[in-house]
Amino acid sequence: MAQRTTLVVLAAGEGTRMKSALPKVLHRIAERPMIGHAVAAARMAGADRIAVVVGPGRDDVAAAARKASGGAEIFMQKERLGTAHAVLAAKDAFAKGENLLVVFGDTPLLRPETLRAMREELNRAAVVVLGFRAAQPRGYGRLIVQDGKLTAIREEKDATETERAVSLCNAGAMAIKGKHALSLLSAIGNRNSKQEFYLTDAVELANARGLIASVIEASEEEVMGVNDRKQLSEAEAVLQKRLREAAMEAGVTLVAPETVFLSSDTKFGRDVTVEPNVVFGPGVTIGDNVTIRAFSHLEGAAVGNGARVGPFARLRPGAKLSAEVHIGNFVEVKEATLAKGAKANHLAYIGDASVGEGANIGAGTITCNYDGFEKHRTEIGKGAFIGTNSSLVAPVKIGAGAYIGSGSVIVSDVPDDALALGRGRQVVKKGWAKKLRAKRAAPKAAGKDKSGKRKAAKRR
Ligand code: UD1
Ligand code: MG
Repeated sequence: MAQRTTLVVLAAGEGTRMKSALPKVLHRIAERPMIGHAVAAARMAGADRIAVVVGPGRDDVAAAARKASGGAEIFMQKERLGTAHAVLAAKDAFAKGENLLVVFGDTPLLRPETLRAMREELNRAAVVVLGFRAAQPRGYGRLIVQDGKLTAIREEKDATETERAVSLCNAGAMAIKGKHALSLLSAIGNRNSKQEFYLTDAVELANARGLIASVIEASEEEVMGVNDRKQLSEAEAVLQKRLREAAMEAGVTLVAPETVFLSSDTKFGRDVTVEPNVVFGPGVTIGDNVTIRAFSHLEGAAVGNGARVGPFARLRPGAKLSAEVHIGNFVEVKEATLAKGAKANHLAYIGDASVGEGANIGAGTITCNYDGFEKHRTEIGKGAFIGTNSSLVAPVKIGAGAYIGSGSVIVSDVPDDALALGRGRQVVKKGWAKKLRAKRAAPKAAGKDKSGKRKAAKRR
């Protein structure tokens, strides 16, 4: 059996520079909390166990980690005594000699490929460190390499001037071979300027035991840590670029990719076209041959094959469009199912509803789903025709093939194939307008003063 791997995510830090009531690792990038990115990458890299180390009382972080991976095990670090101390808080998760992979919860751009490369490198080395060439190394631990061997990681505060001149830096992630993990970590002390138990000391200890330590290099962009809101936006930009490229590689046409915003979980079929300025919130699934037109906003929605959405459409959570549905401009759909070929082409609100196959929802139709206390459902049958500017006051059922006259307020059920009119009856008075004009024109013609100017008309 292949060697099992435990991933430990360190997330007990406070992240004060975010200036936020929310813990740092719960801030979202591409609609997924940072901690979720770390966990997802680990899962894709094939980690067998995922352990997340959180600070005291951080049930919210624990919940987010569990959401990202049902099987995540949560460990609490009671006191913040350093990165090695934090890893040891999770020691039960690698006590059976599992290979250990440590990542930070605030490094959301690490790719599964990189974690996999680190795991593989454990076939040659006892300790594997993720390194990068820093444009500005200040603040990072430096990787000290002698004769091609990684001999130590020196934290900036403890480094000599020569060591500080090194630009190869520690990204933070580390892998340790299972049979050495616990004994190396337990040997780490806290005799340094911060009096913390540094995970990085595992490298020097391994060397002292004649074990090999090595470096896997990643780009500075990939190992970027997020400490403040500016870095949060930079990480967002990097991730958006990756998501757009992945979508295009999978056969999606993005007409203006830089204007389209995706979520980490957005799913596309084939031959989808997305016009400029479209936002995909979390939980969106798009089928094949779909066109999403400009300025649409989608969230928690499923769009079936051949459907057309937008421009300026809004699909909210629970919107389910079957094949060939058309949703046009200024149409909002929420918690509603539209069967095959149903159309709402202009200015409508369809909420808490089911719309039958081929039904046509006219402009200005509103499902009045809320009575100030509760939500109610509207059911519209197959092939029904809802005339423009109709209010369907839920709960209400419109039968299959029924016809609703424009401008109706429908408060009771309409049987199949019936016509329902719920509006004032039209009154026509022949010649009335002509008479009015004649009446209004007469005094004006008579009422000119000596200069030929018209007198100010009297207001009635
Ligand atoms: C660490 C590395 C440094 C590296 C840098 C990269 C060590 C000793 N130093 O330094 O070599 O260049 O990251 O960004 O590892 N954490 C806990 N509990 C603790 C301490 C930290 O969970 O007791 C977590 C933090 O939440 C954070 C991570 O560990 O996610 C790193 O801690 P941080 O204090 O940011 O370490 P750095 O000083 O940046
Ligand atoms: Mg840090």
